[in-house]
Amino acid sequence: MTNDTFAKDVDQGLRAPLKHISSKYFYDDIGSVIFQDIMKMPEYYPTPCEFEILSIHREEIISRLDFHEPFNIIEFGAGDGIKTRQLLKKLIENRVDFTYVPIDISQKAIDALEANMISHLPGLKIKSLVGNYFSMVEELAVFKRPGLFLFLGSNIGNYTDPEAHELLGQFNSHMRKGDKLLIGFDLQKNPATIRNAYDDSQGITKAFNMNLLQRINRELGGNFKKEFFDFYAHYNPVNGEVRSYLVSLKQQDVHLNATNQCYSFRQNELIWTELSKKYTFAEIEMLAKMSGFKLIEHFMDCKHYFTDSLWTKP
Ligand code: AVI
Repeated sequence: MTNDTFAKDVDQGLRAPLKHISSKYFYDDIGSVIFQDIMKMPEYYPTPCEFEILSIHREEIISRLDFHEPFNIIEFGAGDGIKTRQLLKKLIENRVDFTYVPIDISQKAIDALEANMISHLPGLKIKSLVGNYFSMVEELAVFKRPGLFLFLGSNIGNYTDPEAHELLGQFNSHMRKGDKLLIGFDLQKNPATIRNAYDDSQGITKAFNMNLLQRINRELGGNFKKEFFDFYAHYNPVNGEVRSYLVSLKQQDVHLNATNQCYSFRQNELIWTELSKKYTFAEIEMLAKMSGFKLIEHFMDCKHYFTDSLWTKP
């Protein structure tokens, strides 16, 4: 991602009637560290739930793959890989022949993941790819092996419905008949549980959002003053959407050198920063169908907060 694309997206977002900046820009080096802290917060249940799923249900997940030859496990946006390791460990113990292919746009993230995986799983065959998901998947096509694709962590929840359809449709078009997709969805639950996960008492999620302004200052020559912005997260249990915002605390102008523009903020004006969608089973089934997949099985934690849903390309 070039600074030009970042500047263009921020410029467009700050000119819109409802100002917005995509949450994909949260993850610079500092933001990625703050996200690690979020995953350790007691309120942020998705991480331990998915860890539990991949620990407890790994045998069943493996048995439902139904691959009869060596295969690839391709993971999009692998993160620290701790959850995935549960699955990989079992496959190695069972002497299954597979290659793990993590894909990420950050070389730094991939280097750390690879070192970590190799130290915990010395027998692992790993072929890391750095770059855009789809150009990398095209590269994989030359292997002509079955594939299990992983899209974990409820990353899909950060996409709007049309974007999610488009993304899953693209996954589908790069898969072969019989390939599998294991995809994490955060499920609708007691609204207070969800609200607390995105509005934590220590202010870590606030810092995660505020880092966006610091990143803009650093990379685009902005003069955002973080003391003049607050953070607000809202869960709507009717549509399952958590929406996160930065709130301008006063009427103010902010200048960006990269765009050579001034942006005016009214007092209490919002910048929408993130969507974190929570799903019903009916919505998941619809999404699978509309993007060309057949749902095989849901694997859930004991509280039924989260599902890793196994789909196949029929
Ligand atoms: C990465 N993504 C699935 C997280 C989520 O829950 O939407 C990012 C996050 N934002 C605030 N807390 C965590």
